[in-house]
Amino acid sequence: MKLLANIGQLATCRADGGQGDIHVISDAAIAWDEQGTLRWVGAERQLPPEYRGIERVDAHRLLVIPGLVDCHTHLAFAGWRADEFEQRLAGRSYLEIAQAGGGILSTVRQTRGATEQELMQRGLEFLENMLALGITTVECKSGYGLEEGTELKLLRVYRRLAQEQPVRIVSTFLGAHVIPPEFRDNRDGYVDLLVNRMIPAVARQELARCCDAFVEESAFTIDEGRRILRAGQAAGLAPKLHADQLTSGGGAELAAEVGAWSADHLECISERGIAAIAAAGVVAVSLPLASIYLNQPPMPARRLIDAGAAVAIATDFNPGSAPSYHLPLAMTLACTLHHMRPAEALKGATIYAARAVGMEGSVGSLEAGKAADFAMIDAPDVNHWLYHFRANACLMTSIRGKQYWSADHGAGQPA
Ligand code: NIG
Ligand code: FE
Repeated sequence: MKLLANIGQLATCRADGGQGDIHVISDAAIAWDEQGTLRWVGAERQLPPEYRGIERVDAHRLLVIPGLVDCHTHLAFAGWRADEFEQRLAGRSYLEIAQAGGGILSTVRQTRGATEQELMQRGLEFLENMLALGITTVECKSGYGLEEGTELKLLRVYRRLAQEQPVRIVSTFLGAHVIPPEFRDNRDGYVDLLVNRMIPAVARQELARCCDAFVEESAFTIDEGRRILRAGQAAGLAPKLHADQLTSGGGAELAAEVGAWSADHLECISERGIAAIAAAGVVAVSLPLASIYLNQPPMPARRLIDAGAAVAIATDFNPGSAPSYHLPLAMTLACTLHHMRPAEALKGATIYAARAVGMEGSVGSLEAGKAADFAMIDAPDVNHWLYHFRANACLMTSIRGKQYWSADHGAGQPA
């Protein structure tokens, strides 16, 4: 048993209440057992006697939050696309670049040529840096293979990453990212391949928990998306969607129809889409970094919250539209772009993000019975943390009660 005491503010982020209800306890303590499961959470003056003599870590009156959950990344890819960043700044659009063979297809070419070991090495570096920011769970999508061998390679990389480092990984099959060049004149052939070969292979090898599709004019139609996600569901993969990012195409309505765990992007969501996902309980995932890198109007998060939807915040980390894994930066941007209060952004990067990846039962909030995944933040409260933006305000990250990062000692083996 171990105790973290002298916590100035503990943002428990329990699910009950609205977007801004993070259920803060002042002068708090938390205790966990050898398995890394929280046994007690509360005000320190109410600490039961059986926890008083156990090993104690001092939180120095700082802010403690649940480990952050990045519920949308494309973590495994080869190469970068800084040249496209410059071209977009000079006025070329994301779609023009894609139509000329750049964009996602440029990363597909490089990723097909990379070895599992190269992708693994990069993934380890990214995750180590994310851990240092207080991130303890990361959703990772395939989608830069677009052929069976490379898609399975990417998902195998995620499986090895889950085994070889501490950050929790949730894998998503995104074979439906765009139509690969080999199938440019045979869209149906590629959708058949996804439905009849790739999805069954992913499910058989238990390589993913979710199936995602990019529903957009430049990617897959609503009918194609429906067919792919239904095939995923039949194979046991939970549906997620890239929806209404560049155009308003009814992606949010499709997410509601199939009962998706989340609908992500939603910069161009319609009024009907807002009503549909709120009614269906689909988590709306905001990706503010992608909105600013592509110079898009942001997702109408306030209208979604007012309609009763849960809004999660994620990075969308990828080499094109969001080349950063800095989730706290995305949270500060959610405040300034979406007019979300810091507490609302925190709930969006913890318990609602956990819901978006089917992990709400074990992570995303600090409550007895859940995992002792938490981060100690160098700030007196959540407002101050997201207002005074720094390269890294996280002083310590713990997963299952083990400290894997500390500002004093760096990352590595549990201390
Ligand atoms: O989520 N929208 C589609 N996919 C990614 C972009 C990937 C890329 O540009 O490489 C996204 O923004
Ligand atoms: Fe994405």
